[in-house]
Amino acid sequence: MSTDTQTPEDGSFFLSVLDENRFKVKTAKAQQVSIDNLDRVLELSRENGVEFLIARCHTDDLRAAQKMEEEGFLLMDTLVCYTRDLEKPLPLETPSANIRPFHTKEIEEILLIGKKAFKGYCGHYHADPRLEPEKCDEVYVSWIKRSCLSKEVADEVLIAEDSEQILGFATIKINDESEIQGALYAVTPEAQGKGLCRSFMVASMLWGRLKGLKRLLYRTQITNIAAQKVLGRLGAELSYSAYTFHKWFI
Ligand SMILES: CC(C)(COP(=O)(O)OP(=O)(O)OC[C@H]1O[C@@H](n2cnc3c(N)ncnc32)[C@H](O)[C@@H]1OP(=O)(O)O)[C@@H](O)C(=O)NCCC(=O)NCCS
Repeated sequence: MSTDTQTPEDGSFFLSVLDENRFKVKTAKAQQVSIDNLDRVLELSRENGVEFLIARCHTDDLRAAQKMEEEGFLLMDTLVCYTRDLEKPLPLETPSANIRPFHTKEIEEILLIGKKAFKGYCGHYHADPRLEPEKCDEVYVSWIKRSCLSKEVADEVLIAEDSEQILGFATIKINDESEIQGALYAVTPEAQGKGLCRSFMVASMLWGRLKGLKRLLYRTQITNIAAQKVLGRLGAELSYSAYTFHKWFI
């Protein structure tokens, strides 16, 4: 039984144990669906008894998107991916709060912020009426926790603080020898709109540059205006976009 082959020919299909444990349905993800591999993705889903499939395709592959619609997939979100060249000048400015790497003892405080900031988030999980909203909130809290605990999930977690408390965090992953990815950024609701996300973005870019990396990548939902405002103002450019579909087999 093929479960974890992950090649472009099979749309990078894999069974998602994390999702299965959370939502109690057999779940698979196919991150690179195209018109050429959609049939194979469906075949693998059926062979593996998949009940819930999360499938992503590039927005320029409209034939794939339309065929997924014909097959009963439902659109859940649209991702936009921005890149910022780290060799270009970065703004020299004082951050709007002190930013530093987190300490392990701060994980609970970080999770609390994540819980508030990602409650009802605009991502594909929350968009699916068949998934319990509270379970969808947990996706993010669990991802944040794993980011704090495992270098396989995040290479750095930065926090912003004032004299009394943590105000937000940003997780960073090194993708390869030239690229970092800004993964999960969150600011506690009371501190939003004061430039902290911008400060996290600049700090992440400086972090990447210090490691000799050339590019920051940041992926978010097209409806996440706040993150895109910050990215645009810092000279990040749109590099690609993708649709996320869900297909239920039960
Ligand atoms: C996205 C997020 C990190 C932004 O943090 P922030 O510190 O509030 O961002 P900044 O203050 O640096 O700037 C955000 C800009 O977007 C604006 N903005 C915030 N929410 C907005 C919304 N819903 N629609 C339009 N603009 C919005 C802010 O007003 C500000 O613009 P301005 O300078 O013109 O006023 C924060 O809103 C958050 O934690 N959201 C929930 C989690 C999330 O979406 N994370 C990002 C994806 S991983």
